[in-house]
Amino acid sequence: MYPLRRNRRLRTTETHRSLVRETTISPNDFLVPLFVVEGKGVKEEIASMPNYYRYSLDLLAKEVKELWSLGLKSVLLFVKVPENLKDNSGTEALNAEGLMQRAIKTVKDAVPEMLVMTDVALDPYSIFGHDGIVSEGKILNDDTTAVLAEMALSHAKAGADFVAPSDMMDGRIFEMRTLLEDEGFYDTGIMSYSAKYASAFYGPFRDALDSAPVDKKDIPKNKSSYQMDYANREEAIKETLMDIEEGADIVMVKPGLCYLDIVRDIRNAVNVPVAVYQVSGEYAMIKAAAEKGWLDHDAVVLEQITAIKRAGASIIASYFAKDVAKLLS
Ligand code: PBG
Repeated sequence: MYPLRRNRRLRTTETHRSLVRETTISPNDFLVPLFVVEGKGVKEEIASMPNYYRYSLDLLAKEVKELWSLGLKSVLLFVKVPENLKDNSGTEALNAEGLMQRAIKTVKDAVPEMLVMTDVALDPYSIFGHDGIVSEGKILNDDTTAVLAEMALSHAKAGADFVAPSDMMDGRIFEMRTLLEDEGFYDTGIMSYSAKYASAFYGPFRDALDSAPVDKKDIPKNKSSYQMDYANREEAIKETLMDIEEGADIVMVKPGLCYLDIVRDIRNAVNVPVAVYQVSGEYAMIKAAAEKGWLDHDAVVLEQITAIKRAGASIIASYFAKDVAKLLS
């Protein structure tokens, strides 16, 4: 009781504060999302993601070497697929010489110890911009999971350490795990986007990959029939527990900041690592406010990343990973 307890004592100097700090961040916490395009010498800035780029394979190799030197040891790959290779069933996603498969090899050749994770979903390959196969106004579940499992296998064959299904179809983790086991890929990890919400914060990402759902008759305008309703909390636990049962090694909550209650619920409910994806819209908001001089960029970034970790994340996918690694060093 006051004055026997004065809580401010422990906040007296930075030395006191660092002694009693409950949450610290390090480069080990991060997954670095990377956008890959065809071409040579390409480093294109994404309009709605200032200071974030799409790289061709040659510059991807250079970038991952720099990431490694900053202590960033895991990357999450996304590809921008040429329009003429898109269809409704993700044919190109299974091409052993496709951009993703070459990107995996490029990273492994440049930095063999780098942990390579790959996005598994059909949207960058889909003429309709959906994560699954579209038929009569619907996204087909089981036909899609069959393709996604093949896609995961193709990434594993190319050398991916982890596949990261971001599609939210039912049963896809089981399909993938079963196929990987059958084919002898016992050590390939699955990081499941297990509680992924239908969010308006993915806008800049869809610009980056040109992968937004198209506005056409009989094509669902949004992803709400597979991604979760943002009003729901209990459902996130159900989704996550099922993915673990089906064989996921790491589970994920996405987006980040608006969903920290979910992160804590899941942290308390499971005993596998919990990843959080601080998504493109979260990145864009900070960049825009900082450009206007309305927020202190670095301070806000560190505060948000720390909050995500404090909520229960053990892994954070963030477009700020490089900025943070530099700030910490
Ligand atoms: C694709 C995918 C998306 C993101 C990661 N994987 C977009 C979507 O579901 O529409 C979003 C990442 C971000 O916004 O940073 N399935």
